[in-house]
Amino acid sequence: MSMSVAVHIHPSQFPHAVAECFARSLRSRQMHHAFHYGTPKQTLRWLRVHEAFSPARRDPGCQAAYSSAADAAVEAMAGAGAVDVIGLGCGGGQKEAGLLRALLTADPRLPVRYVPADTGVGLALVSRDAALVAGVASEACAPLVLDLATAEDWDAAVAEVLPGRRRRLVTFFGMLPNFLPGEVLSRLRGLLAPGDRLLVSANLAPGEVYEAGVERILPLYDNEPTREWLLGVLLDIGVERDDGVLEVRVASCPEGSGLLRVEAIFRFARERQVTVEGEPVRFEAGECFRLFYSYRHTVDRVAAQLASHGIAVDGSWTDPAGDEGVFLARRM
Ligand SMILES: C[S@@+](CC[C@H](N)C(=O)[O-])C[C@H]1O[C@@H](n2cnc3c(N)ncnc32)[C@H](O)[C@@H]1O
Repeated sequence: MSMSVAVHIHPSQFPHAVAECFARSLRSRQMHHAFHYGTPKQTLRWLRVHEAFSPARRDPGCQAAYSSAADAAVEAMAGAGAVDVIGLGCGGGQKEAGLLRALLTADPRLPVRYVPADTGVGLALVSRDAALVAGVASEACAPLVLDLATAEDWDAAVAEVLPGRRRRLVTFFGMLPNFLPGEVLSRLRGLLAPGDRLLVSANLAPGEVYEAGVERILPLYDNEPTREWLLGVLLDIGVERDDGVLEVRVASCPEGSGLLRVEAIFRFARERQVTVEGEPVRFEAGECFRLFYSYRHTVDRVAAQLASHGIAVDGSWTDPAGDEGVFLARRM
């Protein structure tokens, strides 16, 4: 039996593409989100944040929301044969593993294939391991390493690793907050055919008043472990901690969607020159570098955003604190 695992690497994650993407981030002063997870050190910093602040890790009520959504997805897919589960930005793939377990518990003979897709090879492999434990056959797992931000045709990327189209159950967990809505929703829709389902999670603004809810969750970002994680990518290229100040603030969506997002900005207080891939990069005093943003929704706003891109929500499950929601959706 072979001990090696075949991993599909999409051209968006070939070395020259990653290097160009990083150079673009530096030039535009806008960090591509994937670089916050891109090295083992960054992954560990992120895991610390995730453990400390993610409702999905800390709140059994949130885990129950994911589990109810998974059950509803399994029911929606019941009786129509083989299923392909596509985990976009799967990370360690624990949520997808729960979904796969639910599918195989409902029908142990169901032919299930699984594509754990992430920018990180390591994460795609960890997610594959979790799927094997959940009961998926190793030959039915096709890890895919791709950048969802620069790979525009997601359907073609998936079709290449899963020959012969079956019904799809696509997951987009923890990803919606880090993409412009207009950038990502039409790509998601492009993955869905009639009969397919989408499970997507969103960070929500708790309470009745949207703006106040977004302000309320700021401490989830404005804290030491999150600052360390987000600064890490600049520190790793030679920027010094006291070259500036990391500001965490609420801002409006630049696409005019009406959504608010939390942004983390590094404001340089003095000039700094670093060398990246042999090239000098210079930051001037007063310049701002946007390191991160994360959108906050409400249940109605998620449904409206998805509907405006031809995706209908059939059900939603919210955690007791009202700050995370899971949505079951399909192509209209
Ligand atoms: C917030 S985590 C979510 C992980 C997991 N889905 C969850 O809900 O716990 C974001 C994940 O998406 C991956 N990621 C970030 N940007 C990406 C991109 N542009 N394309 C593909 N994966 C990306 C990261 O490597 C990380 O595993």
